[in-house]
Amino acid sequence: MIEQQKQRIELEITKQLDDLDRNVLRKLQMGANPSESDIAKYTGEFERCAIKCVDKHVEILPKMFASMRSVLQSKYSQDRMQGAVFEKNVRADGKVVIITGANTGIGKETAHYLARRGAHVYMACRDMQKCEKAREEIVLDTRNPLVYCRECDLASMQSIRQFVKQFKAEQQRLDILINNAGVMRCPRTLTKEGIELQLGVNHMGHFLLTNLLLDTLKLSAPSRIVVVSSLAHTRGQIALDDLNSTKTYDEAKAYEQSKLANVLFVRELARRLEGTGVTVNALHPGIVDTELMRHMGIFNSWFSGIFVRPFVWPFLKSPLYGAQTTLYAALDPELEKVSGQYFSDCAPKDVAEQAKDDRVAQWLWAVSEKWTGTLTGTAAVS
Ligand SMILES: NC(=O)c1ccc[n+]([C@@H]2O[C@H](COP(=O)([O-])OP(=O)(O)OC[C@H]3O[C@@H](n4cnc5c(N)ncnc54)[C@H](OP(=O)(O)O)[C@@H]3O)[C@@H](O)[C@H]2O)c1
Repeated sequence: MIEQQKQRIELEITKQLDDLDRNVLRKLQMGANPSESDIAKYTGEFERCAIKCVDKHVEILPKMFASMRSVLQSKYSQDRMQGAVFEKNVRADGKVVIITGANTGIGKETAHYLARRGAHVYMACRDMQKCEKAREEIVLDTRNPLVYCRECDLASMQSIRQFVKQFKAEQQRLDILINNAGVMRCPRTLTKEGIELQLGVNHMGHFLLTNLLLDTLKLSAPSRIVVVSSLAHTRGQIALDDLNSTKTYDEAKAYEQSKLANVLFVRELARRLEGTGVTVNALHPGIVDTELMRHMGIFNSWFSGIFVRPFVWPFLKSPLYGAQTTLYAALDPELEKVSGQYFSDCAPKDVAEQAKDDRVAQWLWAVSEKWTGTLTGTAAVS
């Protein structure tokens, strides 16, 4: 009986969605570059639909978002909301690539694209089940079997060292390292070594990983390191007297600090890598609809699902579009000798003033070496 009812509701929802799709599609016939008033109209349309759905079947919202999104994106994609696209048809046959946090979001799309272009892709993830599921999808779709899941928890120096050891035992070269994994605005948590999690994963873990792989990257030159930072770095400050947020913890500030640390790391590393043939660049992927906001209760509540998401989602990039600047930094032949830069929407962009401070970049490097035990093998967080 319940099953029958469920089926009936499913059918009804599907019919509603179909009607909705047709309705929106009909209105979209007016062209690929809609005016502001068109957008306002569609937003209104969406709002009305959202209210209708709340009244009728609250459960259909996620399905409806996905459907609306795909319809709207098919028209609006590049020029309106999804930002620049890396359009060059560059192959990556035989290139060995490591991508951290490749089981979901921007990292997964990056892995997918590179696998499609023939790369050997190492998905460096902390959750092997999620990683394997994503790998299966990628292999099935791309028919490239050279995609590997390897455990790498960036909140544990031991896990990072183990990952590098195994990688070096399997591969003699590394053409592209993509430091993508990230955590945002989580409650105060510490890594295995006692580093505040956002700084620990977003910066320190990647700092150790990159340093341990530099010898292989140099042997494989020309090779590239890509660091996924964020526009949030522009609001960041490096807390010289409380880097580990011990005295006070503000989730937003800790994220911004970690993303500024990404850009300062790139600045200092580019200087150190001059003349080696290894480049390193940072980027902002755009505002992308991923799981990054998983710790931000306000964006995950039913209230937000009904009253916030409908109005912001048209302005979010899908993960596929969010991966475009990473792919540009990783593959564009014109960037072969470009290092120490920051990109957004597949183009160079200036960084914030505090991201140009060489003194702070060098200070952060020295602290990072100590906290990760890069030189000594023993992490010492103080
Ligand atoms: N989305 C945006 O709007 C946006 C904007 C600016 C910058 N960014 C940056 O883009 C990057 C990718 O984020 P996303 O938006 O794709 O977010 P996401 O969907 O949440 O993906 C983040 C990835 O990082 C992994 N990760 C988290 N902690 C880890 C750890 N300790 N060790 C290894 N992997 C870990 C996650 O693994 P699990 O699935 O196992 O947690 C996941 O694979 C991040 O660096 C983020 O700061 C994103």
